[in-house]
Amino acid sequence: MDLDTRFESTPDALTEVEVLGLAAQPGLSWPGGMDDYVETLGTGFSQALERAEFKGEAGESAVFGTGLTHPHTVVALGVGKEPGEDDIRRAAGRLGRIAKKSGSVASTLAWEGMAAAVVEGIRLSQYSYDRFKSKPKPSQIESLVLLGEGAGQDLEKGKVISEAVCWARDLVNTPAQHKSPQVFGTEVVERLSEAEVRLVTHDLEDLKEGGFGGVLGVAAGSDREPCMLEMWYEPEDAETFIALVGKGIVFDSGGLSIKPASAMMTMKTDMSGAAAVVASISAIARLGLPVRVLGLVPLTDNMPGPLATKPGDVLRCRNGKTIEVLNTDAEGRLILADALSYAVESGPDLMVDLATLTGACKVALGDFIAGVMGTDEGLIERLIGAGKDAGEQLWQLPLPKEYRSQLDTHMADMKNIGGRWGGAITAALLLKEFVGEVPWAHLDIAGPARWPRDEHYQSQGGSGFGVRTLVNLVSDLAEHEFANSE
Ligand code: BES
Ligand code: MN
Ligand code: ZN
Repeated sequence: MDLDTRFESTPDALTEVEVLGLAAQPGLSWPGGMDDYVETLGTGFSQALERAEFKGEAGESAVFGTGLTHPHTVVALGVGKEPGEDDIRRAAGRLGRIAKKSGSVASTLAWEGMAAAVVEGIRLSQYSYDRFKSKPKPSQIESLVLLGEGAGQDLEKGKVISEAVCWARDLVNTPAQHKSPQVFGTEVVERLSEAEVRLVTHDLEDLKEGGFGGVLGVAAGSDREPCMLEMWYEPEDAETFIALVGKGIVFDSGGLSIKPASAMMTMKTDMSGAAAVVASISAIARLGLPVRVLGLVPLTDNMPGPLATKPGDVLRCRNGKTIEVLNTDAEGRLILADALSYAVESGPDLMVDLATLTGACKVALGDFIAGVMGTDEGLIERLIGAGKDAGEQLWQLPLPKEYRSQLDTHMADMKNIGGRWGGAITAALLLKEFVGEVPWAHLDIAGPARWPRDEHYQSQGGSGFGVRTLVNLVSDLAEHEFANSE
């Protein structure tokens, strides 16, 4: 989407704007010096607000037709008493939805430090996946005026981040039929060739030679060959080195431990972790953040073909550890085991993985909140903070040593499933076997990787969850070095 964005300091600019979004706070104050302007809207406006019981709390909006041509619509956007970044992003998203059919929009939401969030909210709210629509209804918004004192803020950041999130959403929404590991890989190669990222694709032969038994075991039941993408962004001025790993199951049928039909319907989205990693690296590189980043994304189907891994089979992973596969539907941890082992070999300062790993995490935390677990409390805290500004909620779950025995088996170093309860935790405990001494955090994004409905800047389907958190974390690492907190 082309969105011509500029700052204006006075409401005079409104003579060219079709839809105006006014930030509002409780007690009905109009930040951005708009009190006089609101006066000119007359009693019609105040009556409309009264009828809508509009108070200015976060999440509220009220739409008012002015009867003029410019602006023809004024939208009051509640942001609450002390709006955080995501209150602003959501308000901008609501404005974007209302203004979708208009050419030009203005808003007073972009106060100090919030311009990028406004750009993100507007741009993300225009997203739709229309590859297979005969009559797509693209956004009509061409220009965005940011009214108020915020001039000079960085608009590029909001653009880069929203483009990355939209790319991740596209990858997630793409049907499995159109994203074989090869096709996925080619798209990433093409996209990242525009950025300063070096990319190596490990094909089937490489994976065999390299001893990636987890990836090979999961891929065995599919005719489509697996691969693993290795991405390097290495700016000269970097002091910190982070590895990002994403689960890339392009379709999860469950394998021989096959899923029921209803559970399979959304399983094209089981590569959301991979999408978040490739998209965030594209943004990190475009923004030129001074942090060294390694991205690793194992890509494969999980299918029950004739050569599929069978319950009881034992796989040997990249770091030599063996796993007895008792349920082929617990496949994400098998491919992540290899990718994490491989990441450790490069000696990163810290490591984060993202995965739609367990239904159990979705049961625990619901649709909107990701679970976070790991070996370094400082890292977990920084991730939760990065997520807060990003509007991506993370909640820490424990990693108790006592639960490790659930993975014990006489057959191998571990089995790939634990007992009935605490499934998000036992999955993470398995991953922990593969991270060596590197400070590590794991995000289980099974819930929020898919958004259940259209609202503010989210749309139903792939959400691109994780991209904004990772970009924020890396920005934070650029400013404050990482100290191992153990
Ligand atoms: N991809 C699923 C997890 C999932 C479920 C993600 C629902 C998003 C929504 C994962 O591979 C899986 O099947 N996990 C199993 C693990 C079990 C067999 C131990 C699960 O959660 O049921
Ligand atoms: Mn599965
Ligand atoms: Zn899965």
